[in-house]
Amino acid sequence: LNAGTSVTQSGGPQDQRFSEGETEITLTDRQGHPIQDNQNIRTVGSRGPSTLENYHYIEKISHFDRERIPERVVHARGAGAHGYFEAYGKVGEEPVSKYTRAKLFQQAGKQTPVFVRFSTVVHSAHSPETLRDPRGFAVKFYTEDGNWDLVGNNLKIFFIRDPLKFPDMVHAFKPDPVTNLSNPERMFDFVSNSPEATHMITFLFSPWGIPANYREMQGSGVNTYKWVNAEGKAVLVKYHWEPIKQKIRNLTQKEADTIQGTNYSHATQDLYEAIERGDYPEWELCVQIMSDDEHPELDYDPLDPTKLWDHQQFPFLPVGKMVLNKNPENYFAEVEQAAFGTGVLVDGLDFSDDKLLQGRTFSYSDTQRYRVGTNYLQLPINAPKKHVATNQRDGQMAFFVDRAPGQSPHVNYEPSSLGGLQEAQRSGKEHEPAYNARLVRQKLERTNDFKQAGETYRSFEDWERDELVANLAANLHLCKPGIQEQMLHYFTQADAEYGRRVAEGLAKVKEQAASGHMGTPEARQGAAKADRLGNP
Ligand code: HEM
Repeated sequence: LNAGTSVTQSGGPQDQRFSEGETEITLTDRQGHPIQDNQNIRTVGSRGPSTLENYHYIEKISHFDRERIPERVVHARGAGAHGYFEAYGKVGEEPVSKYTRAKLFQQAGKQTPVFVRFSTVVHSAHSPETLRDPRGFAVKFYTEDGNWDLVGNNLKIFFIRDPLKFPDMVHAFKPDPVTNLSNPERMFDFVSNSPEATHMITFLFSPWGIPANYREMQGSGVNTYKWVNAEGKAVLVKYHWEPIKQKIRNLTQKEADTIQGTNYSHATQDLYEAIERGDYPEWELCVQIMSDDEHPELDYDPLDPTKLWDHQQFPFLPVGKMVLNKNPENYFAEVEQAAFGTGVLVDGLDFSDDKLLQGRTFSYSDTQRYRVGTNYLQLPINAPKKHVATNQRDGQMAFFVDRAPGQSPHVNYEPSSLGGLQEAQRSGKEHEPAYNARLVRQKLERTNDFKQAGETYRSFEDWERDELVANLAANLHLCKPGIQEQMLHYFTQADAEYGRRVAEGLAKVKEQAASGHMGTPEARQGAAKADRLGNP
């Protein structure tokens, strides 16, 4: 940016980057003026008052006054790292080209740079990383065909299936608008009126709701996407990240409380330090594949993000692995300003009709235009690492014109015969799903809200069920009886033992509270143990 020569005081051409006496480390302002006094503002005499023409001071303080951008409305607390994705060139044992023409997957050994941001969801940017919350797992692939963002979570399912409910859900989970305190009653009020959340709540209140850190956890795209091959034929896919070198490790509430007592940032610290010491975390990307139809033989809809796809029926097929091997150099520029979105796909990848996915896809770039700014895609962390030439111009913070070398500077529109940009060539047959249905407001037909919640409950190990029961009891204790009853009704429909144990756990917490042992972690653990002893 500073390249070029100019005429200096001495009249001769020389490197204009430095004024006389300046070196690489001389302090300047943003206009390039060397700062000779950075300790004292200009005042009338040594005791003031100050004057308004303190340009350096006013620039310095007004930039400082604007250092924060709005935090993400969800997933505000996060940590990031750079790395690469390496393709296996096949999906399971089959050539990947059978299902998708996406170039990043085709060749075994092909590497694509990635940037990953992990996060917690509900609380603000400096909240503890030990909270019970899903963890975000967002990956930006800088592919030769442009960027692909796979914006996932650690858990494989979600609370709701209709995007219209998302703002209400987030309001209920965030602190009370009057007291600014977290209140489980508000959360369970929403959940007790949203039976589809029972499965996710079963994961969230078990140890799976507090992963040990960002490395020792899985990731999942959650929503159903499509893969499209060269003939324009599509299949439904779900994406999953499975840790390779690291284990999967979750915390009990007591372990989380202990960590939180001394460290609010243990997960950020763990990721940063592992990468600094060369212990690079790795995940394998697996897909589950279904044919692109409604699958009436299943007792759930493949487009329902509150459901798991059965492992046996739809096996996890590895397609590549990801290694994270470089920490960000600047947290704000790379992690805070990073912008991921579910609309950011490349050729060979497509949306499914999953309503939640379609609702998300509007939300991400909308919020990023507000949170980061109109030109957020010009920032190095968000820009693709390939040729970009658009006819977009101007807007706040535009700092370059992405004009192609061969493009006339006068032609910022298309089509044109005067030297403008031209459309790319089609790379394969378009996938063109056909629709013939009424426009309606309806739920999916196969809601089946409880069956998989029961299966998940039964799949847990004993200690995980104990934790689940104790955590639910401790939180439901803080809710009104109507909410408690509705939640117990849901758990019972999922699994009779599940409902009974939470009811018994709740009764014990009530007893303890009545006798003065209010829901401390020890009391909660005590309730879990008592419950377990009573239910061998
Ligand atoms: C972040 C909306 C569901 C994963 C965000 C943000 C919004 C949003 C507005 C902030 C983005 C930003 O400021 O850059 C929604 C809506 C949803 C939804 C409207 C449903 C209708 C989900 C689901 C998942 C998910 C199901 C998991 C698969 C994430 C992640 C981030 C995020 C990982 C953080 C990305 C980052 O690290 O910058 N979401 N979300 N969201 N969301 Fe969602």
